[in-house]
Amino acid sequence: MNHATRVLVTGAGGFIGHHLVKRLRADGCWVRGADLKLPEYETTDANEFELLDLRKFDNCLLATRGGIEIVYTLAADMGGIGFITANHADIARNNILINVHMLEASRLQNVSRLLFSSSACIYPQSKQEDADVTPLREEDAFPADPEPGYGWEKLYTEMLCRYFRQDYPLDTKIVRFHNVYGPLGTYEGGREKAPAAISRKVALTGDGETIEVWGDGEQTRSFMYIDDCVEGLLRLMASDFPGPLNLGTDRLISINGLVDLISDIAGKHLVKKHDTSKPQGVRGRNSDNRLLRHVLGWEPAISLEQGLAVTYAWIEHELETAGRLSKKALAVRSNA
Ligand SMILES: NC(=O)c1ccc[n+]([C@@H]2O[C@H](COP(=O)([O-])OP(=O)(O)OC[C@H]3O[C@@H](n4cnc5c(N)ncnc54)[C@H](O)[C@@H]3O)[C@@H](O)[C@H]2O)c1
Repeated sequence: MNHATRVLVTGAGGFIGHHLVKRLRADGCWVRGADLKLPEYETTDANEFELLDLRKFDNCLLATRGGIEIVYTLAADMGGIGFITANHADIARNNILINVHMLEASRLQNVSRLLFSSSACIYPQSKQEDADVTPLREEDAFPADPEPGYGWEKLYTEMLCRYFRQDYPLDTKIVRFHNVYGPLGTYEGGREKAPAAISRKVALTGDGETIEVWGDGEQTRSFMYIDDCVEGLLRLMASDFPGPLNLGTDRLISINGLVDLISDIAGKHLVKKHDTSKPQGVRGRNSDNRLLRHVLGWEPAISLEQGLAVTYAWIEHELETAGRLSKKALAVRSNA
């Protein structure tokens, strides 16, 4: 019998980690998940799942014990723009502790490869001041001027990964995600991202009613469906490329455009009410995928229309099952 690769996924109770565990198990790997919490919406597929606070070094040693060969580090204290803007100290401290301790524990336990999940938030804010932004290339990261708190912590850990790779036999890889969305992701409570938050608001709103949009809605981003994200992670891990590598789509869309798309999927005509007192992050951000295509011979292909249809249906179903949808919010379906 072939030896099943032994993989640790940290953050396996979270959105990307949970989907990654499923895929790794389907591909025949032996998987340990570690997180502060179990996945919220489904049972984990992991062979072992350990509830551990990975800010603590001893817990990182536990998570990496027993011949783990590959580590995907997805654990992080994070959320949407409202959350990361309001919690600089907590986010920076918690994530630096997790990341430093995971790197050191992986080194000591002779892990061969470790992938660090960085973010497009590491890119300089000065290069993202226009809604019609020039897509960001990997080398644009320096001179550094990242998102306060979350971006600085990610950029510093990127450097740490490089140093570990140079000085120790730990093959580190760095991926920079650009806005990942899909089913089984947080959709309320303050940590949700724009596609999930907008899907929730659209589902809860009746046809012809008003929906609140953060900022003037002209801020732009690109969005990647979760299945493409997982595929990209596996491809990067299997490659010889250490990164950093953008992983996202390069289709730029405004938040107003995203609201329109999700409203169309729901079959609702909604009136947008903009709240400019709410944080909106950088004005525009897009991924330059030239290096991604070159290194992986692939790039995310699932369209926003396809991905959002699945995501919206899942969030609407969750809210409906919880008895949260008013008759007015549901009326569109019964009229269809
Ligand atoms: N989702 C995105 O659009 C996106 C974009 C850029 C970067 N990322 C990065 O990708 C990774 C995964 O993101 P996600 O969307 O799945 O987020 P998520 O919040 O759903 O998952 C993160 C998980 O980490 C866990 N965690 C937090 N603190 C912990 C601790 N002290 N010990 C153990 N576990 C802890 C949380 O409980 C959570 O389950 C994160 O590192 C995030 O910064 C995500």
